Amino acid sequence: MVVPESKDKLFHPPDDLQRDAHVPDFNSYLEIYRKSLEDPEAFWKEVADEFYWKKPATGPMLQYNFDITKGNIYIKCMEGAKTNMCYNVLDRHVKDRNLGEKVAFHWEGNSPEHHLTITYQQLLSRVCRCANVLKKMGVKKGDRVSIYLPMIPELIYTMLACARIGAVHSIVFAGFSSESLCERIMDAQSSVLVTADGVYRGEKLINLKQISDDALEKCGEKAPCSVTKCLVVNHHAVRTKGGTSCNKLQTPWDMKRDMWWDEAMADSPEECEPEWLDAEDPLFILYTSGSTGKPKGVLHTTAGYLLYTSLTFKYVFDHHHDDVYWCTADVGWITGHSYITYGPLANGATSVLFEGVPVYPHIGRFWEIIEKYRVTKFYTAPTAIRMLMKYGQEPLQKFDLSTLRILGTVGEPINPEAWQWYHEVVGQGRCPVVDTFWQTETGGHVLTPLPAATPLKPGSATFPFFGVEPTILNEHGEELEGEAEGYLVFRRPWPGIMRTVYKSQERFESTYFRKFPGFYVTGDGCRRDKDGYYWITGRIDDMLNVSGHLMSTAEVEAALAQHPAVSEAAVVSRPHKVKGECLHCFVTLKDTKEFNQKLVEELKKQVRDRIGPIATPDFIQNAPALPKTRSGKIMRRVLRQIARNETDLGDLSTLADPKVVEVLFSQRSEAA
Ligand code: PRX
Repeated sequence: MVVPESKDKLFHPPDDLQRDAHVPDFNSYLEIYRKSLEDPEAFWKEVADEFYWKKPATGPMLQYNFDITKGNIYIKCMEGAKTNMCYNVLDRHVKDRNLGEKVAFHWEGNSPEHHLTITYQQLLSRVCRCANVLKKMGVKKGDRVSIYLPMIPELIYTMLACARIGAVHSIVFAGFSSESLCERIMDAQSSVLVTADGVYRGEKLINLKQISDDALEKCGEKAPCSVTKCLVVNHHAVRTKGGTSCNKLQTPWDMKRDMWWDEAMADSPEECEPEWLDAEDPLFILYTSGSTGKPKGVLHTTAGYLLYTSLTFKYVFDHHHDDVYWCTADVGWITGHSYITYGPLANGATSVLFEGVPVYPHIGRFWEIIEKYRVTKFYTAPTAIRMLMKYGQEPLQKFDLSTLRILGTVGEPINPEAWQWYHEVVGQGRCPVVDTFWQTETGGHVLTPLPAATPLKPGSATFPFFGVEPTILNEHGEELEGEAEGYLVFRRPWPGIMRTVYKSQERFESTYFRKFPGFYVTGDGCRRDKDGYYWITGRIDDMLNVSGHLMSTAEVEAALAQHPAVSEAAVVSRPHKVKGECLHCFVTLKDTKEFNQKLVEELKKQVRDRIGPIATPDFIQNAPALPKTRSGKIMRRVLRQIARNETDLGDLSTLADPKVVEVLFSQRSEAA
């Protein structure tokens, strides 16, 4: 790799950012990257030296087998070391770094009237109290605790309390149904569930305790439910619209099993000695969807995850002591685990923790929060950007966004139009956009720009992070050099990679290591361009093969989204007699636009012009909305089935709004 000089338009890092950046230019990136691969032992040792180890490691920084033909897959980091995650992200700052008074979180409620400030010292005391409550409930090292909470401080307290006592947290996003919660509790066999009475998401009141009770009842249908105690945060009653509205919520109660958070915490001591864990002791399980439909319990462990989330946070957001960082993800997803809780806290950062939604009580809420807390680093998802783009520039102009220095995206490929808008309108042209590619499984960023070092190309996650060695394979497992497109795989582990699928080493190995022995297979397609930039083209299972030509859904979608009438697009394949597969495109139009034959022709031309005649869509369907998971991901499986007119849709429990599917089916025949 050399410093990119490209025919494509490059967005270079601004000078003022480079001046005091951790990695100030591309050559420095290359140099550190080279060292991280040539001598990973020295590289990761230096990172580990920042942290507290009760006992030093006796084994190497990384030990592994990535080759299934040579035996079981394993990854171990710092064998023999003893430490505690919670101690490293809290006590270390309070006791050794004098950061007790520093704000850890600005909590902003669903309603702008509700907000709290939590310092590192306060966070430590509350976490210790919660840890003592969990212990009193019988939770011991290695036990699983399921957490079904909205974006409130108690969510952070509980996860860190688990980490403190060596319990394994399993957070279930609080938008999931009772079935999904039940499935995850049963798989983890948790002994305690922590939830809340209820929460407002925008205008909508959600009775979390009722959903939790339904889930526990379902768990108990076949065998006794593993959960014997349920801790309930009085959130709705205390911290929502207040007054009489809380009467609207009936909180079901089991006197033997349930306990109010406030009562339990009231007489709980503020001191709690951390449990000193082995480096490879589990930290958490997080469920992610799998191709078979049954969610996989991705398991992350202690030392490696600490090193990796901490280092990626520091470099990818170029963290400095006076930053105010805001990641809009929910802690129920990996982005929240790594880049709201562990990564930022490991760095002693100040973050915003936001409970609400981007458009409540008004469409400028995100921008209002940036102004209110003087946010310097902002991390969100392309889907949020596209949604906010629909309202144009006006809502942003009412707020002062001049504190912003770095913008980030995660979760899906960002189409160039959304990238440009983010860069120009939100970042006012002066903030680099770090497009971070990673997965629940990778624990942290694996392909990403570094904001002061990497010249950007809109839509590219650019280059690997330190210690990460990507390569691209073809269908036969042959490595492709230079400009190429194929399967994105990694040749060796980094400390933060998952260790196994909970209770299913077999599924771990078959999902990620069997297809191409010697490599971790991401399941994503990827292109390397002539300058060495990596471009994620979407999941391999979303690859389309039209007349023998491989293309990605993402590139067709990007082409459609560039049409001024289109707000969002999703493309799937459907069988075609001559071509094998052809494209069926779902397009959501901007507010005032009309779907008609003329527009259909324009869109087909747009794709043809952008990619080539081979990509010309056969069908374009109006989609007033797209079926999405609660985290905002488009469910292409469902779209594929609609396009193919397959009415047996299987499990739709992860859909945010199931009605969308009916509407799309009813309008299917109008696809032109
Ligand atoms: O397809 C990739 C996409 O999201 C997948 C991982 O999803 P999940 O485990 O839910 O984690 C999401 C948050 C890390 C990947 O396999 N993805 C994630 N980030 C990007 C992305 N696709 C393109 N560009 C990204 N920056």
